[in-house]
Amino acid sequence: MEKLVIKGGTPLKGEVTISGAKNAAVAILPAALLINGKCTIENLPNISDVKLSCEILSKLGAKIEWIDNNTITIDTTNVCEHQAPIGLTSKFRASYYLIGSLLGRCKKAEVGSPGGCNLGSRPIDQHIKGFEALGATVKVSNGKIKASADKLVGTSIYLDMVSVGATINVMLASVLAEGTTIIDNAAKEPHIVDVANFLNTMGADIRGAGTDVIKVNGVKELKGGATYSVVPDQIEAGTFMLAAVASKGDILIKNCITKHLECLTAKIIEIGGNVEEDGDTLHVWCNKRPQKANIKTLPYPGFPTDLQPQMGVALSIANGTSIINESIWESRFQYTNELNKMGAKITAQGKTAIFEGVEKLYGAPVYATDLRAGAALIIAGIIAEGTTELYNLSHIDRGYENIEDKFRNLGADITRVNE
Ligand code: EPU
Repeated sequence: MEKLVIKGGTPLKGEVTISGAKNAAVAILPAALLINGKCTIENLPNISDVKLSCEILSKLGAKIEWIDNNTITIDTTNVCEHQAPIGLTSKFRASYYLIGSLLGRCKKAEVGSPGGCNLGSRPIDQHIKGFEALGATVKVSNGKIKASADKLVGTSIYLDMVSVGATINVMLASVLAEGTTIIDNAAKEPHIVDVANFLNTMGADIRGAGTDVIKVNGVKELKGGATYSVVPDQIEAGTFMLAAVASKGDILIKNCITKHLECLTAKIIEIGGNVEEDGDTLHVWCNKRPQKANIKTLPYPGFPTDLQPQMGVALSIANGTSIINESIWESRFQYTNELNKMGAKITAQGKTAIFEGVEKLYGAPVYATDLRAGAALIIAGIIAEGTTELYNLSHIDRGYENIEDKFRNLGADITRVNE
């Protein structure tokens, strides 16, 4: 079993370069199934969810060539298979995007129920509602989702709640549909804009991505033939921003879109950190104990749930008592049990957690309960006194490229060991 051994106590200093966004990449790869031809995708994060997506696309008949660690060419000309390999699709959440893209391409799709982090109930009723509105029949049984349609016809779809996955999936299914699809109450996350930009670069006609009404004018074909670069990962950037604050460090974070991080920047300043923007670089530093703050997670542009655990670490050592309200995922406070093993004083119940700030955390054996919990526990290990052993690394490897190398370059004493 692999673990990270982290010897804490060093403030992080130096520069880090942010990779491409996981949640954009895992949607753009299946979106390539809508193309009848070849394209190049750059700035893909080298993480296990991306490798898994590529493996599935290859099994469906796409020809994928790795040009370097972060760039592929993908030729989907010969894809005619609509059944995705169940053993692979059930390993991660974003496999649900194969339903929208295979339905768009083949007018039928068969995909295993998506896996991914255990964050509580993760229904896909809004995805299904969208596919059905476009004219598909969808059946969920025996761990599989089967969708088929004689033809897909554009219509107006109002999403009952703001959902990243449903917004992207309906967009994917409607790109090659007849007529115009309107997605109302759409999510506005940067990766939604990125998927729309990718599809438009390949020949789609999608307008309004990044607002809460998206209009997709169906086109006959996506020809591809272009190169697209995935947007930088705002959650990875935010993770390093919070690591700088919690460790009383001083970091230059390069290759970020600072606009995507405005909400976090405001909260970091509120808790006593400093943030300076210079083009695509953020300078983040902090020379005192963080101050208490209250946080409520919300869809973009609100405070992202995917940065809640990392912020939780900073608040666990804050001066005063903070309250976090998690409004997206019911089980996203599992990391607080692990932080309490390190000396934190957090009481989590339902959607709310109360953080009584302590002066210090102490190294302990802890388990990454999900991807962002894992990133948070790395930060906790870095700021703790003594040695932390962090287990369940597969969660972290799903979403962060070279995470221990990036932290080591910032001065952290962190080593991956095979027990
Ligand atoms: N929801 C429904 N029905 C649906 C879809 C969503 O009830 O059909 C609910 C969910 O239960 C949740 C809320 O709506 O309470 C929002 O869910 P959303 O669909 O936006 O989440 P998702 O698409 O499954 C993506 C990211 C998550 C991130 C959320 C919220 C991917 C692959 N995953 O999930 O990322 O937390 O959006 O921003 O893009 C992560 O990267 O660590 C991660 C979990």
